[in-house]
This record gives sequence, structure tokens and C-alpha cells, in this order.
Amino acid sequence: MISHLNGKITCAIIKPDAVKKGYTGDILYRITNAGFHIRALKMMELSKKSAKKFYSEHEKSSFFDSLIEFISSGPIVSVLLEKENAVKDFRILIGNTNPIYAAEGTIRKLYASSLEKNAIHGSDSNKNAFKECQFYFSNIEIFLK
Ligand code: CMP
Repeated sequence: MISHLNGKITCAIIKPDAVKKGYTGDILYRITNAGFHIRALKMMELSKKSAKKFYSEHEKSSFFDSLIEFISSGPIVSVLLEKENAVKDFRILIGNTNPIYAAEGTIRKLYASSLEKNAIHGSDSNKNAFKECQFYFSNIEIFLK
């Protein structure tokens, strides 16, 4: 029913480090200024159980426990975004996962402090975009009418 939105939505999460430092407003401004439309937004704290579910693809990684500890350490802001080429364009806007390698002007270059505390998450594929948006906003069709 929402397959026409394939490629046009992505899921962003402003992580606990950026929320704590008061960067939420600035980051959302940069996102909308880059042409993304906010279709749903929620501030919440992830339980460890939900965090493990959200990042399940990393469960075999050496950094998994630390990632779960960090992402559930305080409020996050999850956002459903719409734009043409949403996934690809959003990943360009946020920059490399590691802020050391992120290009000047990208959100991670500006607001992240380390590979773990990297300020923001963006979906890495159209399939994951749907999955992740559904994780935070269970009935995404309501927001995409
Ligand atoms: P994110 O885009 O949210 O996807 C998974 C997260 O795991 C990633 O951002 C980083 O914050 C984190 N991550 C990836 N690789 C490492 C690593 N080697 N050490 C610690 N954290 C990592």
C-alpha cells in the first residue's frame, strides 16, 4: 500500500549524546533545510531490550554491548523523514559513521564526538528504512497519507 514511497523515506535517530548536549533543534533545522520533510517525530528512551532489537544486526559485533548501553543511556529523538532519494541523501548529509572521517559541514562532523557517540543514525537501505520507521512509528501509513 505504501510501496510508492520506496526510496522516499528514511529513519533518523538523534542519539543520546546530541540530545544531552542540546543539539536537537540545530540538527532538525539542518535536516529540514536540506529538503527533508518531517512526517513523524518522537522523543523517547529505549529500553535495553528495545535497543537490542533495533540494533540486532550488530549483535555479533565486539561493540554491541557498548552500543546498547549508550543508545539506551538517555533520551533519543526518532524521526520519519520524506524526500526523493531519502536514504542516500540523508547519509550524505550526516557524513561518515566515524566523525574523524566525516566531511566538513556534515552533521556528524559538526555534532559527533566519537564513532560510538556519533550524534545521529540514518537508515542504510530502503528496506531498513521501512523496517526502522515501523519500529518507532508502528503504523507508518497514518503519517504518510
Ligand atoms: P549507526 O549508524 O547508528 O549504526 C550502528 C552504530 O554502531 C554506528 O552508528 C556507530 O555508532 C556504532 N559503531 C559502529 N562501529 C563501531 C565500532 N567499531 N565501535 C563502536 N561503535 C561502533
